[in-house]
Amino acid sequence: MATVTPLPSVAGSNAKFGATITGVDLNHLSDADFETIRNAIYVHKVVVVKGQHDLVPAKQFDFVHRLDPAADRVHGFDTEDVTDETSGVLGPRFNVIPGSTGVTVVGQGYQGDDHYGLKGITAKSTTHFDAHAEPLSPEDVAAGATRFGAFHFDGVIYGAYPSRVTTLRCVRAPKGPDLTVRWDDGSGLTMKVKPGLTAFIDSAQVYSMLTDEERKIADHSRWEPAPQPYVWTGTRKIRNNGLGMASGGETVLLEKLPAWTPEKVYQFPMVWVNPVTGVRSFQVLPDVVRKFYLRKGADEEEEVVEEGERIRVFLNNIIDRIIKPENILVPMYEEGDVVMFNNWEVMHSSIDFPLTYGARTMHQCHIPSSTFPAGPMSVQ
Ligand SMILES: [Fe+2]
Repeated sequence: MATVTPLPSVAGSNAKFGATITGVDLNHLSDADFETIRNAIYVHKVVVVKGQHDLVPAKQFDFVHRLDPAADRVHGFDTEDVTDETSGVLGPRFNVIPGSTGVTVVGQGYQGDDHYGLKGITAKSTTHFDAHAEPLSPEDVAAGATRFGAFHFDGVIYGAYPSRVTTLRCVRAPKGPDLTVRWDDGSGLTMKVKPGLTAFIDSAQVYSMLTDEERKIADHSRWEPAPQPYVWTGTRKIRNNGLGMASGGETVLLEKLPAWTPEKVYQFPMVWVNPVTGVRSFQVLPDVVRKFYLRKGADEEEEVVEEGERIRVFLNNIIDRIIKPENILVPMYEEGDVVMFNNWEVMHSSIDFPLTYGARTMHQCHIPSSTFPAGPMSVQ
């Protein structure tokens, strides 16, 4: 039977989320254990299901689909709108495991001559070298420094709703000494991590850090991503701390984007409400926002903001409060463990590691949600 154990509170840490689940076999999951895990994902936001060495990829997909039975049976990035031309900063196209329907291999390095039917593939996820304004030097990397890549939630967003839950099974972890994540934003902040793990921030905590005035705006406002958002983001870069946009760079003109249609561009609430707990999260993806529709109350007229610099400064002012070591959760997981998270309530980031640590192999699955994220009121 499934046992859910909240992660122990760590002295000095404000990251009060996460849990470990033991006593289940995801290949053979009872209805009761499924409900326990589903509930734990929504209550604890991030859970690590221990000991799933033999999980069959098709069963991993079935688990994710069981969380959203009305959703299409397709990986979240394998929609008709994602092509080599439109994937942009998402990076190279994904490697779906044969027979799994929609479980992909993510990570780094050569995955062997035959990995679950994928022959001789080399995984190459985007790294901070691709994304950051000022990447680390080779000397810094050799000395054990690293960065968070880019905090985000999973989903194509254009033409598909953000995935509800992401699952990541650790098949092979890189091996080597602990690394030091550097902020390199003038703060001098750093954080020690084991290689190959994933970092999380809690968007409900971001919401709780808003002033009363900001909370009124967040509760009543919407944000609109650009069409073909992962191409549109252009030459702009992420800040060195992995969260929010740096100044400079250019977005791609709308008329220069791959073909798009306005019906596929959604307006998301700034605040998303957890369907199980009712908890509110400030959930905005900084690199793809093209417009804000701001208001402080239901009776106010919306102010449309399209000025990129104003959007950038508005968002950075808020998310600067969360991007501190004491707010970041880097849960420990081992080979065979499956990490599951409420993609509508947390943001996550990979953490780069030196290629000399060996390959990293993660079986990843999320699917486009069948429903739109619910705001605190009708802001759709
Ligand atoms: Fe992701």
